[in-house]
Amino acid sequence: MKIAPSILSADFANLKEDIEKVEDGGADWIHVDSMDGHFVPNLTFGSNIVKAIRPHTELPIDCHLMVENPEDYIKGFAEAGADYISIQYESTKHVHRALQLIKKSDVKAGIVINPATPVSLVEDILSIVDMVLVMTVNPGFGGQSFIPETVNKIRQLDQWKKDKGHDFLIQVDGGINDSTIKVCADAGAEVCVAGSYIYNSKDPKARIQKLKNAVKN
Ligand code: DX5
Ligand code: ZN
Repeated sequence: MKIAPSILSADFANLKEDIEKVEDGGADWIHVDSMDGHFVPNLTFGSNIVKAIRPHTELPIDCHLMVENPEDYIKGFAEAGADYISIQYESTKHVHRALQLIKKSDVKAGIVINPATPVSLVEDILSIVDMVLVMTVNPGFGGQSFIPETVNKIRQLDQWKKDKGHDFLIQVDGGINDSTIKVCADAGAEVCVAGSYIYNSKDPKARIQKLKNAVKN
């Protein structure tokens, strides 16, 4: 299981240190939540934050775009040094075209589905994505509670991977702690995003280890 701490819950005045802390603690990726105040009722940051942190970490930077018209921002995130760019299925009429644009930029492409979005809607694009992110909360804020009804979607994706031989990663995001991570891992999740569980602690390193230990067989 890969752990991707979300910097949404980090201390923005000490972002460099907060990234070093999780990197030292065994984090696998850094998750960047970009929100535009339209697709979700909250505002965060754009590709400038990726550009700023890129020189300070060797870890893959995983960008989750919660923005309308994600097509307009892909080039910027790619040039800033993103390794993964994931777009929300609900955010554009032209999902396939936007995913192609990400791949053309030599960045790995992810598709994200909200809790109310059926997983069947992404079945026809599984061959072109590198990752499917199942939102386990409604996007927009850190610190919300895990929605258990989303777990069936993880199971279905895992089944499709086995049946059809696709090699995309299954990622989950929202409400992840040392008990919900187990539920997701058992269903087939391979990358877990965690924000508040890691950063709202005096010892983020210990929290990452707790997450990893929770899913050790
Ligand atoms: C929510 C974001 C998440 C958020 C998760 O819209 O996509 O990445 O940071 O936060 P926690 O882990 O606190 O639910
Ligand atoms: Zn996210």
